[in-house]
Amino acid sequence: MSEKPVESLSEGEAAEELKRLAAEIAEHDRRYHTEDAPTISDAEYDALARRNLAIEERFPDLVREDSPSRRVGAPPAEGFAKVRHAVPMLSLAKAYTDQDVADFIERGRRFFDRDKDLDIPFTAEPKIDGLSASLRYENGVFVQGATRGDGAVGEDITANLKTIADIPKKLQGSGWPEVIEIRGEVYMTYAEFEALKQRSAATGGQDYVNPRNTAAGSLRQKDPSVTASRNLKFFAYAWGYTTADPAPTQFDAVQKFAEWGFKVSPLMVRAKSKEELIAHYHRIEEQRSSLGYDIDGVVYKVDQLELQRRWGFVTGEPRWAVAHKFPAEQAMTTVEKIDIQVGRTGTLAPVARLAPVTVGGVVVENVTLHNEDYIKGFDSNGQPIRDGIDVRIGDTVVIQRAGDVIPQIVSVVIDKRPANAVPYEFPHTCPVCGSPATREINEKTGKEDSRRRCTGELICAAQAVERLRHFVSRGAMDIEGLGAENIDLFFNAGLVKTAADIFTLKDRRPAVTRALAERREEQARLREEASGKTRKNVRSVEERNYEGLDKLFAAIDARREPELDRFIFALGIRHIGETTAAVLARQFSTIEELIRVGKETAKAEDPHTVFPSINGIGDTVINALRDFFGNERNDDVLDSLLAQVHPKPYVMEISAGSEVSGKTVVFTGTLEKMTRSEAKAMAERLGAKVAGSVSAKTDLVVAGPGAGSKLKTASDLGIEVIDEDTWLQRIGRGG
Ligand code: IVH
Repeated sequence: MSEKPVESLSEGEAAEELKRLAAEIAEHDRRYHTEDAPTISDAEYDALARRNLAIEERFPDLVREDSPSRRVGAPPAEGFAKVRHAVPMLSLAKAYTDQDVADFIERGRRFFDRDKDLDIPFTAEPKIDGLSASLRYENGVFVQGATRGDGAVGEDITANLKTIADIPKKLQGSGWPEVIEIRGEVYMTYAEFEALKQRSAATGGQDYVNPRNTAAGSLRQKDPSVTASRNLKFFAYAWGYTTADPAPTQFDAVQKFAEWGFKVSPLMVRAKSKEELIAHYHRIEEQRSSLGYDIDGVVYKVDQLELQRRWGFVTGEPRWAVAHKFPAEQAMTTVEKIDIQVGRTGTLAPVARLAPVTVGGVVVENVTLHNEDYIKGFDSNGQPIRDGIDVRIGDTVVIQRAGDVIPQIVSVVIDKRPANAVPYEFPHTCPVCGSPATREINEKTGKEDSRRRCTGELICAAQAVERLRHFVSRGAMDIEGLGAENIDLFFNAGLVKTAADIFTLKDRRPAVTRALAERREEQARLREEASGKTRKNVRSVEERNYEGLDKLFAAIDARREPELDRFIFALGIRHIGETTAAVLARQFSTIEELIRVGKETAKAEDPHTVFPSINGIGDTVINALRDFFGNERNDDVLDSLLAQVHPKPYVMEISAGSEVSGKTVVFTGTLEKMTRSEAKAMAERLGAKVAGSVSAKTDLVVAGPGAGSKLKTASDLGIEVIDEDTWLQRIGRGG
């Protein structure tokens, strides 16, 4: 993507871009933290975060509430009590080069307006790659400990922190403030990490990725004895709320912490110049591999607290400190093969399987190759792509990992390429279901999508769960009592493979009962484990009666004649959202007609000779329909679905004759016979306008139980108010 330099952005462009970056970074955070499936490298992620910061620095007034720079780390998880930090837990600005360090010092000089020769004293200490924690001491007694969380609110993990030997339950010595929050890093040594892995392998337990993540997991255990068994460590290096400064300088404060019984880094020094700071950085870097725990840089802090206070903070970071990061660690290995994984939405993702190699303390065996173009090194127009790389099976590659990030290939060692290595042929069929895999053309740019997708939307096992979830969802078939959770359950139990199977579930009642019972058992067992209590009177699985089951089957049956637009949307054809589905329903009136035209269009050389020109439907949709209906493998699934489900032919309901046509209607309170969105859709089909609030323009208010201020406004304005039943009668649905 070509980006405009930050200096030449207009205010409007900057606002737009900050909005885009906030959404994009949030999405990557979600993929990384929640899905464990990041789609960009750490370097790319950092680049996004840095651009966001650079724009915010130029336009401080535009910093958004939801800016990534305000979010530090992941939000607190459910399960532990929340703790609001009396003083927020900050993150650190980063420096990557000597020049960045020089700039940091220069900013300080300018701020304090000191003359060039006068040096501001700093401290330099390792940046420990663990989890920060805040420990509150009142009158020398450890009373509460919390994670950082989002910086403002963390989790109360006091019980777990109490198991860490490096954390004193009572402060030693004397002279501590009445209240002080000691802050520092919880981490796991390599030795402990290896020992845990060994123990786990011996008992068939889980695999642990790296010491940092394992330390994080260990801290968030519900059972403190598990945390205790992990032998976590702690270094104190900072503080939050306090009733008195521990000392006048950073360095002396940390010495005090040591006197009070904390472990502090032995590698902290005072330094007065850029040269001294960087010399210490290299000293620490040399010792890095022999420390026995992960560090990912060196932190420089202004030593005098008075100067720290004067220099102050930007959003989420102190101005008076910076983390000088170590360059990413690299290693060489070979590509043994390239596998294609099919994502839940059908994207074919290539993964290089490597000869295992240790990088930065972690064994790396797989690395994502992103997409087809990345592997070729250029896109379909022959343009070289950023970071793209011609990787072949048998190649020797340099890989890198920076901190806790996803490994990536940096380069291919061409000299070592085997003579018989051929460029990788990206498959054009889905390895899971055998359907054709295609690349979409972006209608606006005319460019091919870098991702290749499986077109076996209905038949591909890799996509099945996602499809089924979509099929039953609210805007689609909206089957009550059949949410994502039950779909997952039935799918995993082999009871539902395709949408048609949902409608024959009733015939497999015993198996459905068993699946539900097993889940209940499992949930009860987990609750039991968590609470430590055992249940009395455990009933056998067969004894259980699932009252809900008849209701579920009835809800499924009630959906055998769905509205055509819902049905089309439920099919989950790419690019066919609710609106487009409605347009198609209106155009083709029946599912049979849509299928017929879809198939004809798929066969035609030029789709436009067959597919009618419809307002709001462009090539993206037409191509998606071609892919869908042109894939014969979808036929069987569609046929068996249509044997169960008979979508209602679409009839134009909007009639000028309708009593509510042209009226403005407001719904308020709880509707009992339908959802709000159904009511709204129904009213709109009849030509009414649905508004969110009552005003003089409102013609009619439909009020259910619990209606509040809107009702009052309506009566003040003398607007007609009716209940749900009257409404249904009026639109001809009552009785
Ligand atoms: S000072 C006011 N010192 O790095 C500054 N942080 O990127 C607060 N960290 O959240 C942090 N070693 O988890 C500081 N010696 C050190 C550190 C350190 C590791 C972590 C800490 C912080 C993160 C910021």
